[in-house]
Amino acid sequence: MHIRALLPQDWEDVSAIIAGSAGPSTLDGELPTWEQWDARHLPGSRLVAANREGRVTAWAALEPVSERPALAGVAAVSVFVDPTYRGQGFGRHLLANLIAASEQAGLWTLQAYVAPQNTAAIHLLEELGFRKVGRRERFAKVDGVWHDAVLLERRTPAGSPAETLPPPAIAAAVPEAS
Ligand SMILES: CC(C)(COP(=O)(O)OP(=O)(O)OC[C@H]1O[C@@H](n2cnc3c(N)ncnc32)[C@H](O)[C@@H]1OP(=O)(O)O)[C@@H](O)C(=O)NCCC(=O)NCCS
Repeated sequence: MHIRALLPQDWEDVSAIIAGSAGPSTLDGELPTWEQWDARHLPGSRLVAANREGRVTAWAALEPVSERPALAGVAAVSVFVDPTYRGQGFGRHLLANLIAASEQAGLWTLQAYVAPQNTAAIHLLEELGFRKVGRRERFAKVDGVWHDAVLLERRTPAGSPAETLPPPAIAAAVPEAS
């Protein structure tokens, strides 16, 4: 398994993985364009995993949660594995690398919203240091249907270098679809 930075030319593979995973379990609706996805995610913390043949099997990235300077070190995690390659450790390796990259970039809290029935994601996040904050009721609307979401978060340990680094620049606002 090889982990590297996600590049614009990976978008076809990345969007195919999103399309193959969308639905109530991931609390995702419409597929974004590259421009929308690119504007929404922090530039320095985007990763893909590839198998031995070099095929992209998974991606992970971070979205800022707020434009307030006081929250510049807080980001939301996305990690998606191609359904064909699940259960082979891609999600764990990618998320562990994303956490390490986020700490080096000066982020101090990562959060994730997960559907309550998405036991694979909740298990993986808890194993990598996330804790359940609580369940938000009727939080997401996917194709007109309301869904609850479990909020999990991982706080960088107190005293870690991430706490003293300058926080990353916040991504530009998401452009409207044309
Ligand atoms: C959640 C997800 C990223 C896990 O990736 P993965 O590559 O299949 O997971 P891994 O093979 O690295 O396994 C990680 C852990 O999850 C467990 N796991 C995997 N699938 C599971 C399932 N269906 N139910 C319960 N646990 C499961 C594994 O057993 C492993 O735990 P262990 O080491 O204690 O045995 C993947 O299922 C996915 O892409 N889901 C859709 C998108 C999503 O929900 N993302 C998370 C929210 S941001």
